[in-house]
Amino acid sequence: MTALGKLLRTTAFQLTLVYLLIFILFAASLLGYFALNTRRLITEQITTTVNSEINGLSEQYAQGGIRRLVIVVDLRSRRPGSSLYLVTTPTGEGLAGNVGSLEPGVLDHPGWLETNYRRLEAPEGSDHHALVQVVQLPGGFRLLVGRDLEERERLFGIIANAGQWSIALVIVLGLIGGFFVSRRVLNRVDAMTDTAQTIMAGDLAGRLPVAGTGDELDRLALHLNAMLERIEALMGGLKEVSDNIAHDLKTPLTRLRNRCEQALRGATSDKDYRAALETTIAESDELIRTFDALLMIARAESGQARDNMTEFDAAEIARDVGELYEPLAEEKGLALKIDAPVAAPVRGNRELVSQALANLVDNAIKYAGPNSKLNGEPAEIVVKAGNEGGRIMLTVADRGPGIPDGDRSRVVERFVRLEQSRSEPGSGLGLSLASAVARLHGGELKLEDNHPGLRSTIALPRAGPAGTG
Ligand SMILES: Nc1ncnc2c1ncn2[C@@H]1O[C@H](COP(=O)(O)OP(=O)(O)OP(=O)(O)O)[C@@H](O)[C@H]1O
Ligand SMILES: [Mg+2]
Repeated sequence: MTALGKLLRTTAFQLTLVYLLIFILFAASLLGYFALNTRRLITEQITTTVNSEINGLSEQYAQGGIRRLVIVVDLRSRRPGSSLYLVTTPTGEGLAGNVGSLEPGVLDHPGWLETNYRRLEAPEGSDHHALVQVVQLPGGFRLLVGRDLEERERLFGIIANAGQWSIALVIVLGLIGGFFVSRRVLNRVDAMTDTAQTIMAGDLAGRLPVAGTGDELDRLALHLNAMLERIEALMGGLKEVSDNIAHDLKTPLTRLRNRCEQALRGATSDKDYRAALETTIAESDELIRTFDALLMIARAESGQARDNMTEFDAAEIARDVGELYEPLAEEKGLALKIDAPVAAPVRGNRELVSQALANLVDNAIKYAGPNSKLNGEPAEIVVKAGNEGGRIMLTVADRGPGIPDGDRSRVVERFVRLEQSRSEPGSGLGLSLASAVARLHGGELKLEDNHPGLRSTIALPRAGPAGTG
């Protein structure tokens, strides 16, 4: 599309055209009304003066006969002006007046009419237009009185001319105005399009230009910029998550690969191969678990999991998780106690909160057993859900070795495992997830000394009427 074509198609220009058309119609009808009324007014004025003159002349005729009428008409005909007079005999011979010739038959029709005429002493071909009244006087004489219409036509012409010129001026000025307004709008839209193109080409940091006028284009740009800001933040989060996952999975994958290579080189029998394959499968399973855990952490950290937040009872989760792990605890010679008597409403992602609590219980069973006996009794693990100062506390307390003070902030980082627990399987992601889930819900993960043992707590904001509980 050419630049001009683009300009003509802008909304601003088309609006200008519509307004222009409306204005021209309005101006034309106003001028037309004005012109016609002026014309009517002049005609009315002529008829009243002509009427009164006819009346006066008829009276002269009635009083002094045709001689007197001829004298008066003769006198009036000599005055300068646009008045027309003519007195004729019944046969049409002129007796007095200033009219030289008329259209044929005018005198035969008494009454008003518009006609062409020529003045006495006026050269041939200088015909004029006039409004005249013809009356038949008693005795057969005819009297014609009228006015030249030149003045009326001239006035009408002046108005028509002024109308034409002003409309032409309006059109020209309107088009020029529309042209400039459209060009201004188009320039700004073009600037926006350019920015949009660079953004589409991959530069998410680009922002639409804002002129600072506060008009509708500025408002649009501001909103789009806010949207871009959000998209950029989301993209940044996504990139960080995928970078992290790629980085975190590289080590175990390399390990898996090396083990396969070793098996290929070192194995001599079918049995060796089988053993190597079995460890590969086991390690792949572990890898899949790690991958799932990482994805879950990523979901919690990116805030993506906020999409399906519902209100649920955390006490119910404590009971469910406790029941699920009871057999495992028993197997390890540990007693698992559930303490969740009252409702603990929480608004959040139920699946993630369950998984976080399960991770804490899993740790307690894994690291506190099987030798942790207290006074000869099997040590207890307590899973508790309770209200505390407007917060919901999901606590898991065990009687195991606990975590030394200095390591408590470190263990929530990804893949961090303490030396003392290397004998147990695990990838060091359980507490990371619990912490990420707590933060996702606006809460926190607390690790405390249980004298002896570890007491880990997920503190979450209580749902429902604020501040109760
Ligand atoms: N209840 C506990 N008692 C003693 N040490 C603990 C306890 N819970 C966690 N730890 C220590 O913190 C480390 C990190 O725990 P985390 O749950 O994050 O990972 P993991 O249990 O090793 O592996 P995963 O949970 O991913 O299977 C553990 O390796 C362990 O050293
Ligand atoms: Mg764990």
